[in-house]
Amino acid sequence: MSDFCNYSAGFMIDKNITISFKQYDSLDELTAEQRKLLDEAYKAMSNAYAPYSNFHVGASLMDQDGNIFIGANMENAAFPMCICAEGSLLASYSSSGAKSPIVQVAVTASSANQLLDSPVAPCGACRQMLSEFENKQGSPITIILKGSSGPIHVMNSVKDILPFGFSSESL
Ligand code: THU
Repeated sequence: MSDFCNYSAGFMIDKNITISFKQYDSLDELTAEQRKLLDEAYKAMSNAYAPYSNFHVGASLMDQDGNIFIGANMENAAFPMCICAEGSLLASYSSSGAKSPIVQVAVTASSANQLLDSPVAPCGACRQMLSEFENKQGSPITIILKGSSGPIHVMNSVKDILPFGFSSESL
């Protein structure tokens, strides 16, 4: 067996990571900025190009200077080429040359197949992309998630939706 698999005796340790989020039942409980961002994400959703999944996603962000950016998902007949709303949002922010750190990101979605009555869950790749920006700017990004109806979830950091994220520290 290789050295890599040649373990010495040890003791297993149970470890825990705590993630936390807030659940709100009403938009009234959010700050005015958060309501505005969700509204921008909702409007951006109408720009989604999703003829294959009929799953429309809208995303928005506010930076520290109060600038707002939006994104929507964009599909392709070659399915793996689909771009998520969060990816298009971050590409829009980054390619604009914006330097002001991202403070909050809002994501919402609607499906032609069912009523989304719980918050949308950003896919793993999008969590990783959001994590890159949080790590780069060195300050946490608040994540606001909402379905078509139902509760709203707010996380204080991307780390709360992506524990064990891969980062440049490993490179
Ligand atoms: N989608 C997003 O835009 N964001 C996510 O985090 C999850 C999925 C899009 C990709 C595709 O166009 C559709 O939703 C169905 O997967």
